[in-house]
Amino acid sequence: MQLWKGRFQKALSKTTNDFNSSISFDSRMYREDIEGSIAHSKMLGECGIITKEDAEAIGQGLRGILEDIENGKLSIDMEAEDIHTFIEGELTARLGDTGKRLHTARSRNDQVAVDLRLYLKKQIDEITSLIESLVLVLCQKAEEYSETIMPGYTHLQRAQPITFGHHLLAYSEMFLRDLNRLSDCKRRMDVMPLGCGALAGTTYPIDRTITAQLLDFEGIAENSLDGVSDRDYCIELAGALSIVMVHLSRFSEEIIMWCSHEFKFIELDDAFSTGSSIMPQKKNPDIAELVRGKSGRVFGDLMGLLTVMKGIPLAYNKDMQEDKEAIFDAVDTVKMCLTAFTPMLDTMKVLPQNMRKAAAGGFINATDCADYLTKKGLPFRDAYKATGEIVALCIEKDCTLETLPLEEYKKVCDIFDEGVYEAIGLEKCAYERKSRGGPCPDNVRANAQRVKNYITGKNTENK
Ligand code: ARG
Repeated sequence: MQLWKGRFQKALSKTTNDFNSSISFDSRMYREDIEGSIAHSKMLGECGIITKEDAEAIGQGLRGILEDIENGKLSIDMEAEDIHTFIEGELTARLGDTGKRLHTARSRNDQVAVDLRLYLKKQIDEITSLIESLVLVLCQKAEEYSETIMPGYTHLQRAQPITFGHHLLAYSEMFLRDLNRLSDCKRRMDVMPLGCGALAGTTYPIDRTITAQLLDFEGIAENSLDGVSDRDYCIELAGALSIVMVHLSRFSEEIIMWCSHEFKFIELDDAFSTGSSIMPQKKNPDIAELVRGKSGRVFGDLMGLLTVMKGIPLAYNKDMQEDKEAIFDAVDTVKMCLTAFTPMLDTMKVLPQNMRKAAAGGFINATDCADYLTKKGLPFRDAYKATGEIVALCIEKDCTLETLPLEEYKKVCDIFDEGVYEAIGLEKCAYERKSRGGPCPDNVRANAQRVKNYITGKNTENK
């Protein structure tokens, strides 16, 4: 059934109908479509555009349809053009002429815009709570491993010793920014387009504040052309979700490396690993790899949306129907990834001994050796040079800073004394990094607490 039959003599061909139809992907917005229609009909009734009785009957009819869909009594007809057509058709089948009054002062263009905003606002809330759970797991692990020494890297070369808790909290900072971006995005999305009509508003005496209030929107689209053709909120959400995926993907990459025998910093739980069909010894971090791989889909969704929108003249054009599969895919993918990732992280086994062993090689304490000389009065640049010579000496003698005898140290610079061995001790190097934002255990614990307070405080505020 098409809503626009009157002008046409022939029905759509099957292939054209299939090509044109969006019900296979927009049916997931049935709830929002019904919510939007209930609010619209109520507003029509209150403004005297339809009778109060008709408005009441339409509201009841729509609630009945919702109930029947939810309890499986009514299945959505996949031959319909879109979810809007299906719901209106079903309402008319149930109510006759009264049902036909619903679409007064409305177009599918403002209807689809309101449905999508309502749907995505809810999705943002779901994704927000998934990210919050992940951040809480990170905080709990960070507290548990606040004193665990590991090598910090730059260029994937061992650089300076840090704590594992500090490394984990770097990710919680990223995810906090993601939460912020999502809430910003939701704020800008929170604008009600109903009443923009097809493109030029309407001559009926509608009251858009009523619909906005009923649907719990903060604002109202102030330009009818923009109201029906704005998809910035989809692009912005896909952008925010792409950044979430960048973070999950970088984290996954580290987890994959840490699981390898070359690192062996962690072991994933059996429930989150897979084996090989041929190599009996294998335990593969497939979940992390999939998360890393799926980031590509979300970036693709963003690129698709940008490309669809870039050449569209005002106002609505059918190209815009392409928005939904892209943004739905981005939302679904991020939810799926977070749902798999958080328990994987929660159940991983950390191997502190191996982390420490890795931190003990590779002259990771060389900066601290230079700092030791600097604290004894040598200018840092000279201390740096002397330590460089000592590292070269160690490499030549195949020993470490810890095992190089004091006479050798003194040959390079006579400021060295016994105290050097304490100064370059791994624990000292990591635990003395007490500068704000640094990796010492007290900072890790305080930061984990700060982040936890922020998340739990935010949630009680919302209640
Ligand atoms: N399925 C359409 C979409 O997703 C709904 C809006 C249809 N409007 C129209 N003028 N054909 O964009």
